[in-house]
Amino acid sequence: MDGKMKNIVVLVSGGGTNLQALIDSQSRGEIKGGRISCVISSKEGAYALERAAKADIPTVVIPRKDYANSKAYSEAILAELDRQKADLVVLAGFMTILDECVTKAYPYRIINVHPALIPSFCGEGFYGLKVHEKALEYGVKVSGATVHFVNEQADAGAIILQSPVAVKNDDTPETLQRRIMENAEWKILPKAVSLFCEDRIEIKDGKAYVSEEG
Ligand code: GAR
Repeated sequence: MDGKMKNIVVLVSGGGTNLQALIDSQSRGEIKGGRISCVISSKEGAYALERAAKADIPTVVIPRKDYANSKAYSEAILAELDRQKADLVVLAGFMTILDECVTKAYPYRIINVHPALIPSFCGEGFYGLKVHEKALEYGVKVSGATVHFVNEQADAGAIILQSPVAVKNDDTPETLQRRIMENAEWKILPKAVSLFCEDRIEIKDGKAYVSEEG
């Protein structure tokens, strides 16, 4: 580690349970080498903003609806990330796909949590409850969550951590979503954030490898 605490900027759009998992993990001292320095929301009134405020984390709202297209929106996000001196950007239930102006400026510095085992049930159109609807429709017996780096293609960047969750016969999209959040997302997202801040993620040939604790 270079000794400097990394600035973690978290991007949200909704309820923010993954943000809460990060906040709780931070208050237990489990995020080593970094701290959540700002939360940016794409929606006014998102409950995630209240969670941040309760934890005394500064918030910024950049409403997606105020921008004509993804490029204009992404430029506004990029300017804010630069202003915040972000070392790591975490997409935690952020429901807008960012244009390459952001991914190119922050290569291997943006991570996303996706509620399925990539490469299943991912890519454009697979977000939130829809992911679980599709998994149940297909009839898979195992789903889970993935934390990965964000690149120019939706859900296609290097995988950092994955965690499986069993599907039950009587699952609804809502019950499956909840079990995947509790048993997978809320654990592997804070873990991956800490690994990044501890400089324990290595990139080789476009793939991410977690190094053992030194
Ligand atoms: C989470 O399940 C997250 O994995 C998913 O949306 C939910 C947000 O919940 N993200 C995506 O589908 C992104 N493709 P939260 O706001 O309570 O963290």
